[in-house]
Amino acid sequence: MNSLKGKVALVTGGSRGMGAAIARRLAAEGADVVLTYNSSADKAYAVVAEIVKMGRKSMAIAADSSDCSAIQGAVQSTVAEFGQLDILINNAGIFVAKPIDELTLDDFEQSIAVNVRAVFVASQAAAVHMGEGARIITIGSNLAEQVPMQGLSLYSLSKSALTGFTKGLARDLGPRGITVNIVHPGPTDTDMNPANGEYADVLRGLMAIPRFGDPEDIAGFVSWLASAESRFITGTGLTIDGGTNA
Ligand SMILES: NC(=O)c1ccc[n+]([C@@H]2O[C@H](COP(=O)([O-])OP(=O)(O)OC[C@H]3O[C@@H](n4cnc5c(N)ncnc54)[C@H](OP(=O)(O)O)[C@@H]3O)[C@@H](O)[C@H]2O)c1
Repeated sequence: MNSLKGKVALVTGGSRGMGAAIARRLAAEGADVVLTYNSSADKAYAVVAEIVKMGRKSMAIAADSSDCSAIQGAVQSTVAEFGQLDILINNAGIFVAKPIDELTLDDFEQSIAVNVRAVFVASQAAAVHMGEGARIITIGSNLAEQVPMQGLSLYSLSKSALTGFTKGLARDLGPRGITVNIVHPGPTDTDMNPANGEYADVLRGLMAIPRFGDPEDIAGFVSWLASAESRFITGTGLTIDGGTNA
């Protein structure tokens, strides 16, 4: 497993859930991995320790994704400490689910700041340092494509915005040999959406494969997308949702 040997990756929100699984998997493929976190310092450092145990370099950076300068700082620190940046995984995200009459402007600002603006800021800052063969991969959601229940308007808005950004950025960076793609997970067993949560049975009822995904189900594909094998894939998305949207 060395498809990413010599590469340096930055994973936003790498302390828990999918981001942690992606960070571990990129490291298992040979990459050195920097991860950001907001509040889970202990968990972030535990992931770093696992990666170092694999023989790779790793570092955790406290960087709230709603703070533009913190994100830019994380990119700068990655390049300063590791000398390069080849793979950006825009993973950090928040899930605010309420009916339209209960959503506040603060909910809106926070969701857009973390789920959308941070992706723009990190991608813009990272692209400056990237060269031929680099990868920008964003974690969207199957809810960007279909909204099968109430209360999801804000989250779906934030995730569908990323599709347009991915396509436009792929056009901007394609001539430099940098690919830009989005991965749309469906129900995946994390703190955000536990397989034993309140709505889990309803979600399973929507799925062709009636079980929640494991974070590793997403990490495996992200890692392949980060590798040289995916070099002709850009400006597109793949839904990994156990057939929820089928
Ligand atoms: N789980 C699902 O079913 C599902 C489905 C589709 C898409 N997604 C998307 O997948 C991505 C990962 O979700 P997950 O399920 O792994 O969520 P999770 O278990 O809640 O983990 C979220 C991660 O993002 C970080 N994060 C949250 N807010 C942040 C902020 N303001 N600044 C920096 N980091 C922040 C968290 O760090 P701290 O712990 O330090 O706060 C944590 O590492 C998100 O973009 C989510 O929208 C999830």
